Amino acid sequence: MEESLYYRFGGEKTLRQLVEIFYDKVARHPDLAPIFPDDFTLTKEKQFKFLSQFFGGPDLYTRAYGHPMLRARHLRFPITPTRARAWLACMQETLDELGLEDRIKQEMMMRFTYTAQHMINTPDEKD
Ligand code: HEM
Repeated sequence: MEESLYYRFGGEKTLRQLVEIFYDKVARHPDLAPIFPDDFTLTKEKQFKFLSQFFGGPDLYTRAYGHPMLRARHLRFPITPTRARAWLACMQETLDELGLEDRIKQEMMMRFTYTAQHMINTPDEKD
């Protein structure tokens, strides 16, 4: 059986760097920043724990917070198709900056894209 993505991308060390780079981008993104808290400390910690289990590492999130129910936890935020694209663009840039292999980046982005689509709960505003 192929080793999980978690071990192939370098496990905890990579994920710690990933959340730092990613949320710096989110905090500066005009479509995303308004729906996030000013202080990203807890958001980073939760995402670090979630991504650990999402990619086949230790189930840190579930042990700390219970079942992820990710879509339900996003319902109080208006997640539009535009915001989903912005989130994915920040993540793509993050993976590029981490210098991961193309094959690993592609596998990670496929999983992120699928999950981001699933989080959409609000249509884009027409203007
Ligand atoms: C589609 C675009 C997305 C947007 C706009 C978005 C936005 C948000 C926001 C505003 C929060 C709350 C932050 C906080 O209060 O600390 C949050 C939490 C979270 N998001 Fe997303 N998110 C998106 C996609 C994703 C995806 C694809 C994943 C996982 C692969 C993810 C994983 C999480 C996790 C684990 C939390 C913490 C949940 C908790 O325990 O409260 N999100 N997200």
